[in-house]
Amino acid sequence: MASPVFSVDLKFKDEYRVNHHAIDKQHEQLFLMAGEIINLHLQNRDQSLIIKKLRSLYTGLEEHFAFEESVMEACGYPEKQVHHNLHQDLLVRTARFLARYEAEVISLGDLYGFLHGAILQQHFLKDDKKFCDYLHGKNLTDMAGCICQ
Ligand SMILES: [Fe+2]
Ligand SMILES: [Fe+2]
Repeated sequence: MASPVFSVDLKFKDEYRVNHHAIDKQHEQLFLMAGEIINLHLQNRDQSLIIKKLRSLYTGLEEHFAFEESVMEACGYPEKQVHHNLHQDLLVRTARFLARYEAEVISLGDLYGFLHGAILQQHFLKDDKKFCDYLHGKNLTDMAGCICQ
């Protein structure tokens, strides 16, 4: 009998949106990349493939953070430096997590906790949401290149 193939269905829900079209689009892509990594891990796929995907996620985060900071710069977000520090911290943590993944066996809970918890739930849904709420509250959507209402 063939062994069952496990997977998680990680859909980017509407409630994950922070109300900035380009940022949401990038968040969705990063979320899908993270979901693919979790599924590859669940399916016990080749570790080198998962490490390659984690490296791509790191690069994707770096590009996304630079874009987000350029939007903050354009609309004069007063907490830009604080947010930049959060991005730097998340990149350091991602690099450390990647090194751990290469060196030891990582549990599904740790992987999910990092990708879904630290990146999505904490950063995207709290830190980024705070910035997007600010630009909507101050009517800075034009300056931020935001087409959302
Ligand atoms: Fe973000
Ligand atoms: Fe951010």
